[in-house]
Amino acid sequence: MFKINENYLKLPGSYLFSTIGRKVKEFTLENPDKKIIRLGIGDVTLPLAPAVISALHNAVDEMANKDTFKGYPPELGYEFLRQAIADHDFKSRGVTIALDEIFISDGAKSDSGNIGEIFDVDNKIAVCDPVYPVYVDSNVMAGRTGEYLPDLGKWTNVIYMPCTKETNFAPELPKEEPDIIYLCFPNNPTGSTITKAELQKWVDYANKVGAVIIYDAAYEAYISEENVPHTIYECEGAKTCAIEIRSFSKNAGFTGTRLGFTVIPKELKSGDVMLNSLWARRHGTKFNGAPYIIQAAGASIYTEEGKRQTKEQIAYYMNNAKVIREGLSAAGYSVSGGVNAPYIWLKTPDSMTSWEFFDYLLKEANVVGTPGSGFGPSGEGYFRLTAFGTYENTLEAIERIKRL
Ligand code: MLT
Repeated sequence: MFKINENYLKLPGSYLFSTIGRKVKEFTLENPDKKIIRLGIGDVTLPLAPAVISALHNAVDEMANKDTFKGYPPELGYEFLRQAIADHDFKSRGVTIALDEIFISDGAKSDSGNIGEIFDVDNKIAVCDPVYPVYVDSNVMAGRTGEYLPDLGKWTNVIYMPCTKETNFAPELPKEEPDIIYLCFPNNPTGSTITKAELQKWVDYANKVGAVIIYDAAYEAYISEENVPHTIYECEGAKTCAIEIRSFSKNAGFTGTRLGFTVIPKELKSGDVMLNSLWARRHGTKFNGAPYIIQAAGASIYTEEGKRQTKEQIAYYMNNAKVIREGLSAAGYSVSGGVNAPYIWLKTPDSMTSWEFFDYLLKEANVVGTPGSGFGPSGEGYFRLTAFGTYENTLEAIERIKRL
């Protein structure tokens, strides 16, 4: 008789964004005349940039011709894309990353959910609280998190690093020693960031205690302030303790097109074993690569045209962030984020819980956001809005919220 992975049964409820999707669907069915504005999940609304579309068309034509047709992609991804990444994302910031340290994938969500496979189940993870739920849920599935304590909304075997107003929504070094530390900067969900000097402290700490940092830099393109690191490898010593995960979703609108990559430096070792080799083995065994046409499209964002066009898209979303931040502040809300990230983090009014505010906003303003408590216990009493809507919808959403 087969047995299931019972760790799945420990997961409370459904995945956060599935729950929100279901609630919104129910509301829409009951209120078909209402125009809902979705500022919940961080999904982009602008079409792919012209440079990307043109690269897609060209790549499709190549697939139609027997001389240029491509079958399985190379295991780590096409060299033209890895070279563009090494040059534009790293070398331009003074960081040397070798091509065999870059693994092209179908996105940062898969990579951040799968990376745990190369670590023993007995490692103890530390996460920010609130946190992108994938890091915790994927560790629950792996059996690494202990038992769930519903009253606290916490797992017994996870180190939580509260990111609250008191800490400027940034984590502090944990008192208990973790083996694996998940960091995401600019942060989802709070929209906060830390400086290079602050990130250096994490790198030094990880090297000292022998921990690995899984650094999610999916929102790197939204950094607007000086002194905020674009990659963890800007910090000295990061190559011996950090894995970096990147996405094409937020910087180039690939949420529906799917492309990302993970960097594992060869210096990152457990004894004599390179984590790079383990991930290469995993990648080769379980993944057959992102499609050629998507990788070709990805490479186009590093051309002069592609860079300019994607920069314009980011500026568009960051203008939305400004509209949300300034509009809500003027309406008396306490808001943060939205300066180096496309997320605005606000305190719910009148001591409402996060889900109460979610229901209230959906019902009274027909605006969808994300309840802070869905990201962890320290998110209770907070709410996240995304800047990825259209400008018109963002303006209207804020007007509706102001009228409440
Ligand atoms: C979010 O809304 O937190 C993100 O869009 C989810 C994701 O990138 O997977």
